[in-house]
Amino acid sequence: MSPSPRDLQTIESHILELQRMHPSASGDFTGLLNDISLAAKIISQQVNRAGLAENILGATGSTNVQGEEVQLLDEFANNVFIKCIGTRGQVCIMGSEEMADPVLVDTREGSGSYVVVFDPLDGSSNIDVNVSVGTIFGIWRRRGRLDRINDADLLQPGSELVAAGYVIYGSSTMFVYTAGHGVHGFTMDPGIGEFLLSHENIRTPFSACMYSVNEAYEPRWSEEVQAIVRQLKNGRDGGDGKGMTARYIGSLVADFHRNLLKGGVFLYPPTQDRPGGKLRLMCEAAPMAFIVEAAGGYASDGTRSILEIEPDNLHARVPLYIGCRDDVLWMEKMLSGSNGSI
Ligand code: AHG
Ligand code: MN
Ligand code: MN
Repeated sequence: MSPSPRDLQTIESHILELQRMHPSASGDFTGLLNDISLAAKIISQQVNRAGLAENILGATGSTNVQGEEVQLLDEFANNVFIKCIGTRGQVCIMGSEEMADPVLVDTREGSGSYVVVFDPLDGSSNIDVNVSVGTIFGIWRRRGRLDRINDADLLQPGSELVAAGYVIYGSSTMFVYTAGHGVHGFTMDPGIGEFLLSHENIRTPFSACMYSVNEAYEPRWSEEVQAIVRQLKNGRDGGDGKGMTARYIGSLVADFHRNLLKGGVFLYPPTQDRPGGKLRLMCEAAPMAFIVEAAGGYASDGTRSILEIEPDNLHARVPLYIGCRDDVLWMEKMLSGSNGSI
């Protein structure tokens, strides 16, 4: 699906068209998405130079709030996001995977209508070996008064998302987003430095042909999860015996993107040492759940929709089963007896 010269459309003009559908819109949301696309362009450029430039590859020597090693590019991408987002005062508070506490934004110049939570660089352990990494973001509306921003504004469930998206820094850089109606993908043309519409209204297949899970954790899964993966591989019990193929990159954005387009399911189940799962609800699972549902798929924590879960803190973790609707619903049913836990 490559754009033809007749319908070349930049992400900025696509977002403006969205704004025209809402005549009362202030332009704040449009400006915010444009800010995010600028951040994506800057990060993309740096990721592409990672093997060449000094002081880009490798670890910073510190760990983040999750206890994970912070890479130089994690820090760079985080700073770019903080600098680029809400430049016109549209954002009142933002939260990042890389920062223990949320950042209150000075909104003297603007409405402070929006809340943004992001994973600036997803899959960062893959940077040093030139494997795809990404960025994930979710946008919520401020709930309370601008002069009293608090946890109720920040800690909102996925069902309240206004928009969500991700950027994949792969063989080409792509920006994929949804504002609830349709999921749209834009591919970066490096010659002109623009994201051009390449995948309009993405729909994910109803049934999966591939599954993605880190199978090294198999001994630490519950019996129910072990049974699920066995059946993904060999075909469902009582079915036609046709199993799926396996694909696992270890970058959520890259695994999710491939599965969204080709039809797949991604699992990050709880393990004995991580009974709450590994992935973060607010900056990873909820935005991806919002996107997959807008594309016709489904996301669950094993017992209920990811979008229903009220976060109790910015860095809350959650088990994740996400992708083609038919298969995720089946996994949820398989897990319902075990309550999703191990
Ligand atoms: P991050 O780099 O933002 O910390 O995220 C890494 C995540 C995610 O991208 C991926 O799906 C998962 O970690 C892989 O974990 P395992 O190495 O345990 O499979
Ligand atoms: Mn991540
Ligand atoms: Mn990250």
